[in-house]
Amino acid sequence: MRAFDKLMSKISLLSVFKYAILITAIGVSGCGEKQAEKPPPPPLKTESPPPLSLKEEVSPVIVTAKTRETYQWYCAQCHGIKGKGDGINAKFLTVPPRNHTKAEYLETRTDEQLFQAIKFGGLSVGRAPCMPAWGNTLSDSTIHELVRYIRELCQCEAL
Ligand code: HEC
Repeated sequence: MRAFDKLMSKISLLSVFKYAILITAIGVSGCGEKQAEKPPPPPLKTESPPPLSLKEEVSPVIVTAKTRETYQWYCAQCHGIKGKGDGINAKFLTVPPRNHTKAEYLETRTDEQLFQAIKFGGLSVGRAPCMPAWGNTLSDSTIHELVRYIRELCQCEAL
């Protein structure tokens, strides 16, 4: 019996020791987890985008080197390298391409009309269909830039 008692106490001592280790391990890892469990960051104040109308107001249309390049690439063959309506293709058209340096006519047109003529073609503004529609080729912002560029060429604004 004594031998058995000794054995039992040894076993229980061992298991207590084991449990102690286990508990401290859980305790430590539990602590680690708690540290990793940071509270979520507070929501950023700048999350909601500004209203679209405001955005349009603050971003003015600017003529860049890219705008001029686009004009040379897509428009100059009819309207001419300098926009004088004397492009290489001009003499083959039944209606002469508009001279973009002439203020007299362009002053009578609003920016919206020019935009529409470029985007949807001459017919959309009651002009000749040999002015093609560029809406499938050029983005709205590029067309806005081209309108600005034409205003530079004619050195005029809509009256
Ligand atoms: C195939 C030849 C051709 C090309 C290419 C061309 N145009 Fe034209 N464009 C014309 C003709 C022709 C007119 C004149 C239409 C009229 O007077 O009835 C015209 C007229 C215009 C007008 C004046 C519209 C109005 O109210 O009379 C604008 C603005 C214009 N073009 C811009 C452009 C721009 C920008 C490009 C390049 C993205 C371009 N065009 C490319 C032929 C062309």
